[in-house]
Amino acid sequence: MITLKNVILRRSAKVLLDGASVTINPGEKVGLVGRNGAGKSTLFALFNGTLHEDGGDFASPKQWRLAQVAQNMPETDESATDFVVGGDTRLTELREALAVTEAAHAADPDDHDIGMDLAHAYTDLADAGEHDAVPRAQALILGLGFKAHELDQPVNSFSGGWRMRLQLARALMCPSDLLLLDEPTNHLDLDALVWLEAWLQKYAGTMIVISHDREFLDAVTDVTLHIEHAKLTRYGGNYSAFETLRAQQMELQQSAFAKQQDKIAHLQKFIDRFKAKASKAKQAQSRVKALERMEKVAPLLAEADFSFEFKEPGNIPNPMLSISDASFGYLIEDEPPKTILRGVNRSVLAGQRIGILGANGQGKSTLVKTIAREMGALAGTVTEGKGLNIGYFAQQELDVLRPQDTPLEHMVRMARELGSSVKERTGEQDLRGYLGSFNFSGDMVKQAVGTMSGGEKARLVLAMMVWQRPNLLLLDEPTNHLDLATREALAVALNEFEGTLMLVSHDRALLRSVCDEFWLVGRGVVTDFDGDLDDYQRYLLDEAKRLREEAKLATREAAAVVEKAAPSPQAAAQDRQQRSEQAKPLKRELAQIDERLAAAGTEKASLEARLANPLPAPEIAEAGKRLKTLNDEIGQLEERWLALSDRLEALAA
Ligand SMILES: Nc1ncnc2c1ncn2[C@@H]1O[C@H](COP(=O)(O)OP(=O)(O)OP(=O)(O)O)[C@@H](O)[C@H]1O
Ligand SMILES: [Mg+2]
Repeated sequence: MITLKNVILRRSAKVLLDGASVTINPGEKVGLVGRNGAGKSTLFALFNGTLHEDGGDFASPKQWRLAQVAQNMPETDESATDFVVGGDTRLTELREALAVTEAAHAADPDDHDIGMDLAHAYTDLADAGEHDAVPRAQALILGLGFKAHELDQPVNSFSGGWRMRLQLARALMCPSDLLLLDEPTNHLDLDALVWLEAWLQKYAGTMIVISHDREFLDAVTDVTLHIEHAKLTRYGGNYSAFETLRAQQMELQQSAFAKQQDKIAHLQKFIDRFKAKASKAKQAQSRVKALERMEKVAPLLAEADFSFEFKEPGNIPNPMLSISDASFGYLIEDEPPKTILRGVNRSVLAGQRIGILGANGQGKSTLVKTIAREMGALAGTVTEGKGLNIGYFAQQELDVLRPQDTPLEHMVRMARELGSSVKERTGEQDLRGYLGSFNFSGDMVKQAVGTMSGGEKARLVLAMMVWQRPNLLLLDEPTNHLDLATREALAVALNEFEGTLMLVSHDRALLRSVCDEFWLVGRGVVTDFDGDLDDYQRYLLDEAKRLREEAKLATREAAAVVEKAAPSPQAAAQDRQQRSEQAKPLKRELAQIDERLAAAGTEKASLEARLANPLPAPEIAEAGKRLKTLNDEIGQLEERWLALSDRLEALAA
């Protein structure tokens, strides 16, 4: 159990928790939510011991094993598989222990105690899952979207986003009682996200996950912890349940509600307008549904003390863009060009709102980057309409921020670079005011970007993009790091945007609420996807199954190759000898367990018989406690028994 009693937590001058109290029970799946900068990541630092409370009491079970995603970018030549196997800290420790014992045994082969130690070291390692560590790691890696041929590639050869996925796999590999995940979906595509949800639903320990993705939270949590005004509030239920409750609470607080009427009315008008003109098409209808949900939680959205709009674009060319007979892909030195997409014939018209779907690595980013002019087409033409002004927002955009500089310095620099091409006012005072409208208050315009929370940085990048008055928005995962209120503000702004929109996102709520047609990037081509997001989710599952089967086939072939290399008779005899040596202590332990199990079973039966009769309360408590201990012990013994038998079976094989 994790408990906080009147905890105070500070970061520099900011008080992030002030008298916060809450309890988290073993096995609970908790969603930690709150606005950007509320202190969620800081709270994780308290949970994992890198930060201590400035007041009050914090307690978490000492014996709990903790797993969390390392935040640093891994730099190593190790293969992806080895790197992820290394995440199993218990296995790593036992391997090291075995190496030490083996060395001792080599130095003194006749020492009986060391011999016993060695046998134990082998069995411990087997119990820790040594035999299937590699396939377990590989299942995680493939699940997170890597290809079978990438399993043995060095970590260094992957791009930043993919290396962070390996960090996630490494954390999942670690056996744990407490799993801390800080925005785990940020580096994922929709297909990897769907896989992660399924994995987490099976996780047995206590999990606390920070996320701003409503559908993800709903899928994997059953308790919601809300951090607001330096207090923690616990709600039983997933994010949607929490949201509904909050909206009701706020309606009760009439005064707060009254202030928001304007904003709500504005939102309502927009939603009505949209619903009136929506077509009967499946996609448009799911957008209507998404907007109806927004309607229901309107007070919550209005509470977001922040909204913004894209400026009306000056002129909108039509078509915005036409692509004919094009191939997209990469030029690699001294090699033939690597074509990812071919035969692309597409036009983008004014006012289209396109969601770009596609399984991992199929070329979504290649398509988007080519349109954004970050790379050229390998063949064919991409013709831009006259006056096209692309607003490109990509995941890696956060890296273009300079950590030492302040938001104001960023704006000043951009204004200087773009100069007269933008019709905005560029005086420092104007830029300050503009940042203010994006919720960067007086102090924050002067805070170094490097010390800001993830969401604060993302909001700055967004502000910089809006300022440029684009008429084609090309957004690649724009909601990463943004809190829910800011996501809603973005969804509203995107809905009212009069230009053209192309969006890649794993945020299903956003896709649903702003797109009314989808393109599918897959198997080397770009096609229309005739369906809605639910159809797409089904398509992904089928696709994943197909890939898994392909991978299985590949490993089977590899195994067949290994099997062909049969051992020599001499080696086989040696191997048999070694196996029978290893089996001896296992058999002994198995016999001991049988004895202990029989004794425990007898005691349990007699306790149960006693409890069946009326007894004084203290005796009931006493007997109950003993029964619980016994049951735990029996459970553990049985597990050990099974593990030992498995191991013996494997040795006999
Ligand atoms: N070293 C620091 N100096 C000054 N302020 C800091 C420092 N570290 C964090 N902060 C501030 O503390 C607040 C809480 O940061 P934290 O990273 O915990 O937020 P968060 O809830 O995780 O937000 P997000 O949802 O954006 O990730 C932010 O406003 C941030 O700017
Ligand atoms: Mg954070």
